[in-house]
Amino acid sequence: MIPPEVAEDLSAGPAFATLVSDFLRDARSRTVTAPPVGVFADVAALFDEPAPAVARSLADVLDDVRRRVLPHTAWLHDPMHMAHQLSTPLPAAIWAEALVSALNQSHAVSELSQATTAIERRVIRWLADLAGLGAEAGGTMTVGATEATFSALLAARNQALPDAFDDGVRGGEAVVYCSEHAHYSVERAVALLGLGRRAVVGVRSDAAFRLDPAALDAALAAERRTVVAVVATAGSTAVGAFDDLVAIGEICARRGVWLHVDGAHGASALLSARHRHRLRGVEQVRSLAWDPHKMMLLPLATSALVVADEGDLDAAFSQSAPYLFHDPSARPPDQGVRSFQCSRRADALKLWIAWQRYGSDGFAALYDHLCETTRAIYELVDEHPSFETLHEPVQHPLLPAA
Ligand SMILES: Cc1ncc(COP(=O)(O)O)c(C=O)c1O
Repeated sequence: MIPPEVAEDLSAGPAFATLVSDFLRDARSRTVTAPPVGVFADVAALFDEPAPAVARSLADVLDDVRRRVLPHTAWLHDPMHMAHQLSTPLPAAIWAEALVSALNQSHAVSELSQATTAIERRVIRWLADLAGLGAEAGGTMTVGATEATFSALLAARNQALPDAFDDGVRGGEAVVYCSEHAHYSVERAVALLGLGRRAVVGVRSDAAFRLDPAALDAALAAERRTVVAVVATAGSTAVGAFDDLVAIGEICARRGVWLHVDGAHGASALLSARHRHRLRGVEQVRSLAWDPHKMMLLPLATSALVVADEGDLDAAFSQSAPYLFHDPSARPPDQGVRSFQCSRRADALKLWIAWQRYGSDGFAALYDHLCETTRAIYELVDEHPSFETLHEPVQHPLLPAA
């Protein structure tokens, strides 16, 4: 028998909405103080219990969330919160999450998700247009830039070592170049792709933490192994530095090397008239990782991989699964054919809803606001007699609350 609570909860939306609204009000308030970070073992002890065997009332469960969960979470919305690289998600996108779950479309195949697959493809097109990529561009939503970079480097490996998907790779035969300040996801992807982590060649950077194009060019000239890709970074993890995509793009074009850009943080600058110049040259890339769940202030997980030629991505994941994917001769709308994931959330829907609600102008204003806040914090620190600034950021991944 279906438990009666299942039917009861069909109308439980307002109770959850009240919980979330109350949390947002408290977290954003200047009078309610965010809970301090406790000792993890103490928090874990609060949840050290067997799986509940029988149903509880919804009111009891939600009350438990208020008492046990919320006081032990990071309050990203608190005006004083500054840590790491999570966005304070935009309200329309927060509420859209319930819709994404309620619809539970799977983006493996379009027959299970027609409208939202069309939306995923449209949103990817918008991102590709912002990057100035051509008509062949396409891509996929991912759970993060880590997956996006992995998939991009898979496509690059497929081009450099076409037999690798079927036959594997020999360690030491191919390499990937990136800045010494590249995010660890690059090394992780290279290792997972079977090239071996020692296949990552870190290129030195200049005083502003940007990959030195001359050093890259010299290293590539001397390289005797197969170069799978160069990875440049737009918005580095520690300092928010942007590599020179014009110079690096010219080197990659001249040498016939795949250029991937990790724009997890910085690709969102493309929305801003004031800051998009930081990605000058991006139209030359073969692939671009872009995390709307960072500087576009979407909730986790909202990330994308955009490739200049969608066929590259399709070829990289080329597999036969006739019980799922249709018509392999045409470029199918099924997003599963170009994704590491099988069951895939309609994360594109919350990005689409937020874009409809706030517009490109709204995202641009938010991006500019984050940069202004970064600048203001930098100036405060710089002027303070007890502090010494180590660098001058243009965009900082601390992401102060919007
Ligand atoms: C520059 C850069 N690239 C990639 C990533 C990984 O992104 P994600 O957490 O979305 O996988 C991060 C994470 O902060 C990052 O700073």
